[in-house]
Amino acid sequence: MKKLNVGMIGYGFMGRAHSNAFRKVSNFFDLGYKPVLKAACARDEAKIKTFADKWGYESIETDWRKLLERKDIDVVDICAPNNLHKEIAIAASKAGKMILCEKPLAMNGVEGEAMVKEVEKSKIPNMVWYNYRRVPAVTLAKQLINEGKLGKIFHFRAKFLQDWTISADLPQGGTGLWRLDINAAGSGVTGDLLAHCIDTAIWLNGPIVKVTAMTETFIKERKHTLTGKVEPVGIDDACAFLARFANGSLATFESTRYARGHKAEYTFEINGENASIFWDLHDLHRMEYFEHRDEGRLRGWRSIHVTDGDHPYMDKWWVPGLQIGYEHSFVHHVADFIDGLDKNKPAMPDFKEALVTQYICDAVLKSAKTGDWEDVKQVKP
Ligand SMILES: NC(=O)c1ccc[n+]([C@@H]2O[C@H](COP(=O)([O-])OP(=O)(O)OC[C@H]3O[C@@H](n4cnc5c(N)ncnc54)[C@H](O)[C@@H]3O)[C@@H](O)[C@H]2O)c1
Repeated sequence: MKKLNVGMIGYGFMGRAHSNAFRKVSNFFDLGYKPVLKAACARDEAKIKTFADKWGYESIETDWRKLLERKDIDVVDICAPNNLHKEIAIAASKAGKMILCEKPLAMNGVEGEAMVKEVEKSKIPNMVWYNYRRVPAVTLAKQLINEGKLGKIFHFRAKFLQDWTISADLPQGGTGLWRLDINAAGSGVTGDLLAHCIDTAIWLNGPIVKVTAMTETFIKERKHTLTGKVEPVGIDDACAFLARFANGSLATFESTRYARGHKAEYTFEINGENASIFWDLHDLHRMEYFEHRDEGRLRGWRSIHVTDGDHPYMDKWWVPGLQIGYEHSFVHHVADFIDGLDKNKPAMPDFKEALVTQYICDAVLKSAKTGDWEDVKQVKP
């Protein structure tokens, strides 16, 4: 088996989720490449050393540029805040490294376009971690829609609710709180949470052409961890938008970090002429399915435990009936990326496909300012 030497940038939430995936994937999937945890990179030497030792990385770097210079790195995994994605990805592409980049692709569409242009030039394999596509129940929804089981689709309804920024005492910026700093995050819940909902929506139901949105920043000023000063908050704390798909269906999306009682309540529902599908991240191994063509007396929502051998990815894990969890979506993501290398058929979403979500986020944020319906810029084929 060939080796795939990984250079990881960032050791936070995603640094851990991805490291776990790289370590496990070859135990459960038969692939042509085996990831090797070659180097972990972050600015704080002591912290990255502790991380590298814990996860089994062979070496560390404290400057991502040094990591890119290394001949022994095949793939660079960008797990750093959003404002670093473009610079690192473009440099990695120029250095001839394959790139796995966390979502959102970039701070905005303009940055995303530059990234797409660069990887199209270098032709290096690239992929963005929209991992929810690879939760087996979500992949099953995609299979059923592609098979035409739902018939014409009328509605898509998604929400992603959290409650962790309600306190006005919470500072913005710096470790852990870069998501509240517009200069590090690019946007608030739109790029952070709705980007996931949008990626899933367009994957399942095709292009979005128009949006109208409202956003709110409930806490207008917060102390900035890096400057020590109280500064205006530039991110959207909450966002709700309506959308029209190219296929004629209508959508509603809502996200907030101010829904007391909700930690990561990501749900979507799709209503078609024959059937409906509902999925809930809190019960991620289940898909709720309603089939109108069932015999009337027995018709009702079925709660399908997506754990059987013929369900997506599940033949790779335990015996039927035993469920898997959140972290496995990242294992599947790596497996599909490597499978794409093996077959020379890139796994999606690549940078270009992730740019579609970026354009939708741009249109949402623009609409929230103008108060108008905004057309979504379409990615050229
Ligand atoms: N796919 C998902 O479900 C998902 C979930 C969470 C986060 N994300 C994305 O992953 C990325 C990272 O988010 P996170 O939650 O892991 O953040 P985090 O704050 O937990 O970790 C960020 C890491 O980046 C490192 N970093 C910051 N500046 C750096 C620099 N100049 N050089 C090297 N390393 C640097 C930090 O040391 C830290 O280890 C973001 O783009 C975020 O949107 C995706």
